[in-house]
Amino acid sequence: MKRTIIFLLVIIITGSSFAQSLTASMDRIKLAFSLNENGTPIYSVTFNDKPVIKPSSLGFVFINNDNFNSGFEVTGSDTTSHDDTWQPVWGEVKNIRNHYNQLTVHLKQKNTNRLLDIEFRVFAEGVGFRYVFPLQPNLKYFIVSDELTQFALAGDHKTFWIPGDYDSNEYPYTTSKLSEVNNKALVDKSTDIAVRVAPDSFAVQTPLMMKSDDGLYINIHEAALLNYPAMQLHVDHISLTLSSNLVPDAVSNKAYLHAPCHTPWRTIIVSDKATDILASKMILNLNDPSVIINTSWIKPMKFIGVWWEMQTGKGTWSYANSADDKDANGNLIPGGKHSANTANVKRYIDFAAANNIKGVLVEGWNVGWEDWFGNWKENVFDFVTPYPDFDVKGIEAYAHSKGVEMIMHNETSGSATNYERQMDTAYKFMKEFGYNSVKTGYVGKIIPRGEHHDGQWMVNHYERVAQKTAAYHIMVDMHEPMRPTGVQRTYPNWLASEAARGNEYNAFSNGTAPDHETILPFTRLMGGPMDYTPGIFKLKNYNPNVPDRQMHSTLAKQLALYVTMYSPLQMAADLPENYEAHKDAFQFIKDVAVDWDNTKILAAEPGDYVAIARKQKASDNWFIGAVTDENKREITTDFSFLDPGKKYVATIYADADDADWQSNPEAYTIKQFIVTNTSHITLKLASGGGAAISVMPAQPSQLKQLKSL
Ligand code: NOJ
Ligand code: CA
Repeated sequence: MKRTIIFLLVIIITGSSFAQSLTASMDRIKLAFSLNENGTPIYSVTFNDKPVIKPSSLGFVFINNDNFNSGFEVTGSDTTSHDDTWQPVWGEVKNIRNHYNQLTVHLKQKNTNRLLDIEFRVFAEGVGFRYVFPLQPNLKYFIVSDELTQFALAGDHKTFWIPGDYDSNEYPYTTSKLSEVNNKALVDKSTDIAVRVAPDSFAVQTPLMMKSDDGLYINIHEAALLNYPAMQLHVDHISLTLSSNLVPDAVSNKAYLHAPCHTPWRTIIVSDKATDILASKMILNLNDPSVIINTSWIKPMKFIGVWWEMQTGKGTWSYANSADDKDANGNLIPGGKHSANTANVKRYIDFAAANNIKGVLVEGWNVGWEDWFGNWKENVFDFVTPYPDFDVKGIEAYAHSKGVEMIMHNETSGSATNYERQMDTAYKFMKEFGYNSVKTGYVGKIIPRGEHHDGQWMVNHYERVAQKTAAYHIMVDMHEPMRPTGVQRTYPNWLASEAARGNEYNAFSNGTAPDHETILPFTRLMGGPMDYTPGIFKLKNYNPNVPDRQMHSTLAKQLALYVTMYSPLQMAADLPENYEAHKDAFQFIKDVAVDWDNTKILAAEPGDYVAIARKQKASDNWFIGAVTDENKREITTDFSFLDPGKKYVATIYADADDADWQSNPEAYTIKQFIVTNTSHITLKLASGGGAAISVMPAQPSQLKQLKSL
C-alpha cells in the first residue's frame, strides 16, 4: 500500500535531559513530548498549529503517596507507522482504515529505577496515548491511587457535559462554558429520579464534547477500557485544565495492576468540522481486533419488547402487587397487570412475525420483581424460574414456528456477584429454550457493596459477561454498564449498551429536552452503539398515571433516530397497537437496516442538528435521518452518494408543516419521488422534529408513477 505519511521526529538534545523534545505528526495534527525540569512527562497537541492541548503533565500516584510522575529520564524512543484496513463484524462502514504514526517514549524514574513507556498514536483526526508498564524487577504488582493525566485546554470552550457520577451516565446534558461546569447546582435543582450526587461538583463524564470560540471541535474520551476504572475529568475553572479522575473502588483505590500491563488509551479527537468528529473511527482503531474467531452467529437485528407498557405504567414487571400477596399455600396472588404473560407475549410475537422484526424481548418473566429494587439485596433473581403465567416452552415453540427469536432479560438489580454465580446456569437455560441474545441490567447499587458501576471491579465484570456470553454464542446488550470505549471491536457479541439517558426517561420521568439526541452522537455514541429504544409513535397520553406527560419529539424524529443513533440492535419501542395506528409511518421501521456498508455524515452541529445517510449492508438501499433540537430548521442535502446513472425511489417521512413537538407531534407527511445522484432536497424539520428517508432502487412501475425530485 502506498504510504503518504509525513513523519517527523525531532530530537533536540541540549545537554540536560529535561529539554529532550520528541514530536510526531500526521496531516494537521502534531504531538510534542518532553520532560520538564522536575522530570515530569509533558505532552501537547496542536491542530493546524493551533493549540488544542497546551503542555500538560502525565503520570501517577501509587498507594502510600508513592509518586510516579516526576524524576524521569528518557532512555530511548521508537517511532513506527501503521496503515491498514480492516472489516468490522458489523458497523457503520464496511472497511475501516487504521492509519497512524506512533511515538513510544521509554522512561525511567531515576531514583527508583522503575520503567514506564508512553505510547502516542497520531491519527489524521487526533491523538491517542496510553501508559505501558513493562515487565521489570522494581514494579510488579501495584495499586494506583491516582492517574495524573491532564488536558490543559486552550480556551473556555462551549462544553456539553453530564456530572461525574460513579454509577450513572443517565443524565440530561448541560451546555455551558467550561468554567461554568458545576454539577452541584444541577443536582440541587433537579427533581428527576435518577439524579444522584456526584462526589466532585466539578467532575464530568467522558466522552466530553467541546467547541472553541474559533470553531474547533474537540472530543476527549478513552479507548479500550479493560481492567481499569473509567476516567472522569475534573475541571479546573481557572486554568481550564481537565485532570483524570478515576472511579474508585470500595476502599478508595483506583486500580490494581500487574506489570506487564497498560492503561486504556486517552483520546483527543479534533477537527474544524463537526462532521469529522462523528465520522472518526479512531476509538475503534485503538481497540484490539476481535478475540472471537468464528463470528458467524453474531447478527444485528431489530426487536420489539414487552417493555413500554411497563415503562408507561400500563403493566407491571411483577406478577403480584407485593411480595406479601401470597395465598395459604405461599403462592403469589396475581395483581392483574403482569405484562409478561403468555397470551400477551404471543401477541408481540405475531406482530414481529408480520412486520419483519426479528426479535422479541420480554421483561418481567422471571420471579423476583415484587421486591427487586433499592434494597441492596444480594440474591433477588435466579434467571431460570418463570412466573406461573409465562410458559417458557410454549413461547419458544410459538416464536420458532413464526421465525421470531426471543431475547432474554437478565436484570441483576446491581448484584453482580449473584449474576457471576449464575451465568452458566442462565446461559444454559437460554440455549435450551432458543434464546441467542440477552439484555442485562444493573439497576441500583452494586454488590460487591461499595463498588461502583464504572470502577475497575465492574469493568472486569462486564468483560467477564462478554467473554462468557461469547462462549455460549450469545449476543449481549448491557443496561447500566460503564459507557463504551470501542471494546465492541474486541467483543463483537457485545452489540450495544445503554449507559446514557435513553428514550425511556420520557416514560417514567419529566423526560429530556429535544436537543438531547443532537448531543448524544457527539458524546456517548463516540464510544459505541447505544440501545436508545427509539420509535415511539404515541407521543402524548401514553402514561395513564401522568396524563400530561409527553415525548420531547415529533413522530418523524422518532423515525430519524434509527439512522442518527447508530446501533446494530434497534428496538421498535412502542406498543404494537400504536404502530397499527400509523402503519404508513411504521413502514420506515420495517424497512430500515441495522448493519451498514457505508455512512455519510451529511450535516452536524452538537446541540443543534445531526443528519446522516447510511447504505444498507450488501444492498443498494440507503437510509437518511435528520434530527433537530427545539428550533425548527431547514437542512439541504444532496444525494451525491448514490450510484451515478441509477434511479431510486426516495420515500420521505417528514414533519407536517404544522408539526411541533409540544403542540402537534404526530403530524407527518409521506411523499415519494424519483431521485438520482444529482438530486437535492431541503428537509423542513419542526421544533423538536426530524425527517427520515428510505432510498431504494426504483422499480419500472414506480418510474412511470412517480415524479422526480
Ligand atoms: C432499566 C433499563 O434501562 C430498562 O430498559 C429496564 O426495563 C429496567 N431497568 C428493568 O430492568
Ligand atoms: Ca437504564
